Amino acid sequence: MFQAAAKTFWVASTTPREILSTIRHYCKKTPTTLRVSEAVSGAGLDTNVKVQGWVRSVRPQKTHLFLHVNDGSSLQPLQIVASSELNNPSLTFGCAVEVTGTLKRSPHQKQPVELEAHQIQVVGECNPVDFPFKIKERHSLEYLRQFPHLRCRTNAFSSLLRVRSEATTAIQSYFKKNGFVQIHTPVITSNDCEGAGELFQVEPSSPESNEDENFFSVPAFLTVSGQLHLEVMSGALSKVFTFGPTFRAENSQSRRHLAEFYMVEAEVSFTESLEDLTKVMEDVFRSATEHVLAHCPEDVDLFHKHVTPGHRETVDSMLKKRFPVISYTEAIDILNRSSEKFAFPTNWGCDLQTEHEKYLVKHCGNIPVFVTDYPYDLKPFYARDNQDHPEHTAAAVDLLVPGVGELCGGSLREERLDLLRARLEEAGLEETYSWYLDLRRFGSVPHGGFGLGFERYLQCILGVENIKDVIPFPRVSHSCLL
Ligand code: 4AD
Ligand code: MG
Repeated sequence: MFQAAAKTFWVASTTPREILSTIRHYCKKTPTTLRVSEAVSGAGLDTNVKVQGWVRSVRPQKTHLFLHVNDGSSLQPLQIVASSELNNPSLTFGCAVEVTGTLKRSPHQKQPVELEAHQIQVVGECNPVDFPFKIKERHSLEYLRQFPHLRCRTNAFSSLLRVRSEATTAIQSYFKKNGFVQIHTPVITSNDCEGAGELFQVEPSSPESNEDENFFSVPAFLTVSGQLHLEVMSGALSKVFTFGPTFRAENSQSRRHLAEFYMVEAEVSFTESLEDLTKVMEDVFRSATEHVLAHCPEDVDLFHKHVTPGHRETVDSMLKKRFPVISYTEAIDILNRSSEKFAFPTNWGCDLQTEHEKYLVKHCGNIPVFVTDYPYDLKPFYARDNQDHPEHTAAAVDLLVPGVGELCGGSLREERLDLLRARLEEAGLEETYSWYLDLRRFGSVPHGGFGLGFERYLQCILGVENIKDVIPFPRVSHSCLL
């Protein structure tokens, strides 16, 4: 554009002064397109700008028209002031607009700047009667859930999406800063890493010839964890991570289970004890949370003020103290000593249920707590045998957090060939996992890793009760898909 202006001028004028004046004139006339976040932060003050977005409020007055426009770049909308002559019936709550005008410092306290509109164009109309969201109404997250295709138009859900994006960046940069290599582990796999049988099978929708033959020659599934593939890579790159979609065919309608969720997984070679893992788990949690609080404070505040009032104090206290560590055996003792009536048994050997996890978190001061050394029989084949007596435990660790319960699950891996082979043999899996045994045959080292449920992490820091409210398009059993 700039070049075009200079070119046009060159034909018509002769002196450098005239060139400059023509360019200035041209620039003044052509508005710069700004995002709402740039405009509200004062970029382009006193210049001609264009803003595109969706109308969040309309206030027609006698001589003036006031609009709030938001384009998703920030929680704060831009106030538009226009002569009432620019009003028209299609300018309603929810419609898409393009507004040009001059950005001015605002005389009002509420916003630093406002756009004095010269032109308002309605790009896409929105019938406010049919639109499921009403101006000035604060709809519940449960209500918004009915409109997965429209809920991003609300303040609450667009804030959630910005927090989610910022947390993703924070997690990636934590691993980068700490020397981890990111691995794209496969979505389609033949292994059931967790051995829980919660698998979605993958087959072509229209098999080509022989219906009895599998497409991949072995049954294939959507991944329940990238761990085993990460273990392959940690055997060469030492510190690796992955952050991707994970699938579990759990018929659970709980507030913390999805059929498709995002998991952050890390695998570290040359570990000496579970502490090498709990340190990474705690550091990821802290650095991601501090980053989110610093980079989207308004979005986080919306949740802490309107969704779970008081949750900010919980988050602050989580960050103040080091996370305590208790063993599974201590956890069972704490549960058995409590006066609380639990629905599930608390004998040594029983798996911890959500009610137990929540009680343990409260007992430890409502901050995240690590529980280590679970009964060997509760853990999958890959967990390292502690070879202890009379209890028999595995070097596994879960991180339990306020409001949610289990956020991370991890373990040292059984790196000793004979022990691993014996366990796989017992389960009749030696052949299936012969490649996994190879990792122990060739240059095996002590190693371990963990997985963090990303949606549960967002629930924990924002205080959101239902996991369906922290993912763009939730997938749960017996629900319709978009
Ligand atoms: O405890 P899990 O099952 O651990 C593993 O899959 C390990 N192989 C990870 C590893 O060591 N690399 O899952 C890890 C975390 C859980 O603690 C939980 O936060 C989350 O993933 N998670 C779910 N989140 C939402 N919906 C579900 N259905 C989930 N299942 C697990
Ligand atoms: Mg687990």
